[in-house]
Amino acid sequence: MKKIIISFSILSVTLGLTSCEKTETNTNTENCNVTTPTYTTNIKTLIATHCSSCHGSSYQNKGAGVKLDTYSDLKNYASDALGNIKHENGYAAMPKSANKLSDCDISMFENWINQGMKEN
Ligand code: HEC
Repeated sequence: MKKIIISFSILSVTLGLTSCEKTETNTNTENCNVTTPTYTTNIKTLIATHCSSCHGSSYQNKGAGVKLDTYSDLKNYASDALGNIKHENGYAAMPKSANKLSDCDISMFENWINQGMKEN
């Protein structure tokens, strides 16, 4: 009986913790093979798919603070955005209220920054 009570408490603690924030990760792996990403070919689609619903031209109405849907907008906030998409401490987890981007998407974005944020 004690065992059952203990497992039940562990279960409820686990459920309690996971219900606060989405921790599921996207499983898209198609961007794993992209070693030299450019904005036009790779990053634009990533942002359009996962970010522009809130960070597009109506970003102010969405309370999203920053506009990220053009090359020059994104460049200004890219290194911050990396902290957001990696869910680092001190950064609001992005995309908000959605699954974390796949590891492949995150490493593609990081490579893009490290290679000087090429447009084409
Ligand atoms: C469902 C709406 C929504 C989506 C989708 C979304 N964001 Fe946000 N974003 C917000 C809101 C709202 C804020 C303001 C801070 C907050 O409320 O957490 C924000 C803040 C930010 C900030 C400002 C820094 C900060 O910590 O305040 C950055 C950078 C950012 N988001 C990047 C992204 C990126 C990159 C994506 C796509 C991978 C994304 N966001 C997707 C709603 C969204």
